[in-house]
Amino acid sequence: MTNLAGKTVLLTGASRGLGVYIARALAIEKATVVCVSRSKAELDITCDEITALGGKSISIPFDLKDVNKLSTLKYLIHQSVGKVDILINNAGIEICQFFTDYSLDEIQSVLEVNLLSPIELTRLFLPNMLKQRSGHIVNIASLGGKKGVAYSSTYSASKAGLIIWSDAMRQELVGTGVEMSVICPGYISPIGSVAKNSSIAPQLAGKSTPTYVANAVIRAIKQNKAEIIVNQELITECFTRLLFAIGQLYSPFVDAIYRWIDIPKFNRMRVEKQRCMDDRMIKSVVDKRG
Ligand SMILES: NC(=O)c1ccc[n+]([C@@H]2O[C@H](COP(=O)([O-])OP(=O)(O)OC[C@H]3O[C@@H](n4cnc5c(N)ncnc54)[C@H](OP(=O)(O)O)[C@@H]3O)[C@@H](O)[C@H]2O)c1
Repeated sequence: MTNLAGKTVLLTGASRGLGVYIARALAIEKATVVCVSRSKAELDITCDEITALGGKSISIPFDLKDVNKLSTLKYLIHQSVGKVDILINNAGIEICQFFTDYSLDEIQSVLEVNLLSPIELTRLFLPNMLKQRSGHIVNIASLGGKKGVAYSSTYSASKAGLIIWSDAMRQELVGTGVEMSVICPGYISPIGSVAKNSSIAPQLAGKSTPTYVANAVIRAIKQNKAEIIVNQELITECFTRLLFAIGQLYSPFVDAIYRWIDIPKFNRMRVEKQRCMDDRMIKSVVDKRG
């Protein structure tokens, strides 16, 4: 799809982080953006930004964890803007945790938001795209789905699932006029889920600005890219791909590189930070109750 002007784009996770940057990039392309996430107030701020850039948008607050109710979201979108030409599955959550400390609810939340909701949204919006013989679906995965990351195992599993599902679907869609892309960013800075709590990713792992990742999303749609690995700094896409290819042949070698880069240590630190914050929150609740 070379031209996004006038296209209607359903963008999940548009309230903060990377989603806001993708929304801005879509506004510049003159697309109409349907912004979805849970927080209405933050979605409205994104919509105001889109308007300021000369674009069109609406916001629909919705919890994507309710995968059984996504048909209601489809109905709401149909009532307000009609058909969807492009679906961007960007919403995602990551819970860094020692595996045995995960609750079943946490595991389910990660899989529902990161994997099940993109699959179900595609199931709901794809038939109309097939009828039009035109459409594009972009799934925002992660490098964490190309190589497992310690203390983020459930997140890695969800993103690996999204990458392989996208790969299968892209092949299934050949010749239909509907295209599918998967974007695999490394660490994003200075905003987004990793940067929150002032966590600074290991320098050798490289990082990308959200604008750079948003531009990769636009490129994926315009040039029908199957998979884009996004790592703007230090390590090039080519080198990252080579590393993952070596990992397919002999994973302990890449495990050692990950340890050298300090990736497991960084995630362990995120677990500890989150624990301290949780402890502080519990203490303040207890103190308030007297
Ligand atoms: N940040 C990174 O370094 C990085 C690296 C690689 C890949 N990614 C991927 O990039 C995507 C965006 O990440 P980010 O860093 O921008 O994260 P973020 O700042 O935490 O934003 C996540 C977005 O998802 C929405 N969301 C979360 N749970 C939801 C739910 N149950 N229902 C509806 N919306 C929900 C949030 O909105 P509400 O809270 O308002 O619902 C928010 O808009 C994710 O898929 C993430 O895995 C990020």
